Order: sequence, then C-alpha cells, then structure tokens
Amino acid sequence: MRGERCLLRPLSQADAQVTLAWRNDPALRDAVMGYRFPVTQAREDAWYARILQDGGDRRADYAIESLTDGAMVGMTHLAEIDWIARHAGFGIIIGDASRQGRGLAAEAMRLLFGHAFGVLNLRRIHLRVAAYNVRALALYHRFGFREEGRLREHVFLNGRYHDLVLMGLMRADHATRVPDAPAAEAPRTA
Ligand SMILES: CC(C)(COP(=O)(O)OP(=O)(O)OC[C@H]1O[C@@H](n2cnc3c(N)ncnc32)[C@H](O)[C@@H]1OP(=O)(O)O)[C@@H](O)C(=O)NCCC(=O)NCCS
Repeated sequence: MRGERCLLRPLSQADAQVTLAWRNDPALRDAVMGYRFPVTQAREDAWYARILQDGGDRRADYAIESLTDGAMVGMTHLAEIDWIARHAGFGIIIGDASRQGRGLAAEAMRLLFGHAFGVLNLRRIHLRVAAYNVRALALYHRFGFREEGRLREHVFLNGRYHDLVLMGLMRADHATRVPDAPAAEAPRTA
C-alpha cells in the first residue's frame, strides 16, 4: 500500500535486525508498554517466526517504509482479527525517533484503515494506550477514535501508576473523520 510519503509492505524476518534496537529503546518500550527485560536477537527472531506463521488469518503486520529513502521507519499491525464480529486490534510505532512528527504515522494509518474497512470489510478497530502518551492520544482522536473505557492505574512506569485508555473507531466515524494527506514529508515546526 503506497501513499505519498510512505508505503506499507509485509513485515519479514529480515526486519528483526531493525526492530531489535527499537524494542530496547526505553522511550519506545515505555510508549507501547512493551517487554521490560532486555530483548535478544533470538527472542526477536522467535517473535517474528510466531507472528508471521499466522498466515494473515488473525493478524496482519506491516513495515512502514519511507518513500524518501526506502528506510524502514516503523511498523504497524492489525491483530486478533475477529471475522464474525468484524473487528481488529491496532498498534503503530515510528521507531526511528528522527522521523517522528513528519506525518508518517498519520499516512500509515490512512493506508491501513482504508484497507481494514474497504478491503477486509472490518467495521471496528480498537486499541489500548497509556494515558500519558499524549502524542498517540492526539493522533487517535484526530482519526475519530473515541475513549470507550479506562482501566484506572493499570500501568506502572517510571515509579508511577497510569491509567490505560481503551479506544475504538467505528467504520462510520472513520469515513467522516479521515484527515486529508499533508503535501510532503516535512518535520513539524511547532
Ligand atoms: C505516536 C506516534 C506513532 C506518532 O507518529 P508520528 O509519525 O510522529 O505522527 P505524525 O507525524 O503522523 O503526527 C500525527 C499526529 O500525531 C500527533 N503528534 C505527532 N507528533 C506530535 C508531537 N510532537 N506532539 C504532540 N502531538 C503530536 C498530532 O496529533 C499529529 O497531528 P498534527 O500533525 O495534525 O498535529 C509516534 O510518536 C511513535 O511511534 N511513538 C512511540 C510509539 C507509540 O507511542 N506508539 C503508540 C502506542 S499506543
């Protein structure tokens, strides 16, 4: 799936070398509430083997590649796809911090959600995000996600408890809210 500044391609085992560094980056790890122990290449390889074996029935994993230089800059997924109730969980990381704030996540989401609703015929996408992740929350609200629940002090990070926010995006809301694509990949100035 190709946009103006990035494309989504299937994740492959070779990407484990790139994402291993992201897994061990404390800022990213805490943002996604990831595994808190050191992640070895073997563990990362095993994770890839497990998810890629799924064959696309229950989850779909994509690398986000910059169209500027072809670098893998992030990853995104639909997981726990329920074909009867027609919903899926969603997650995204722009792992290369120097590429954040340039509209890459917004475009990747536009591509992925267009596929989820228009091709896979899902009717709902849901996610969980820590309440302190204001960046991600702003992005999700902008796409029409609504808060559907809150697990109070469910996450423990940096010596404090934080709420976990449950959010959902209905197909109908997405159709009316999807933001326009910005013109080019440029860093945010504000
Ligand atoms: C959250 C994340 C995916 C956003 O990716 P990104 O490529 O930087 O986001 P974009 O540049 O597409 O920005 C889209 C929107 O995100 C929000 N956003 C992005 N950067 C922001 C910043 N520095 N401050 C506040 N909001 C910001 C804004 O709503 C922005 O919309 P706008 O440009 O109209 O203001 C990225 O910061 C990231 O990977 N963070 C770490 C992992 C993570 O938190 N994943 C989500 C876990 S639930």
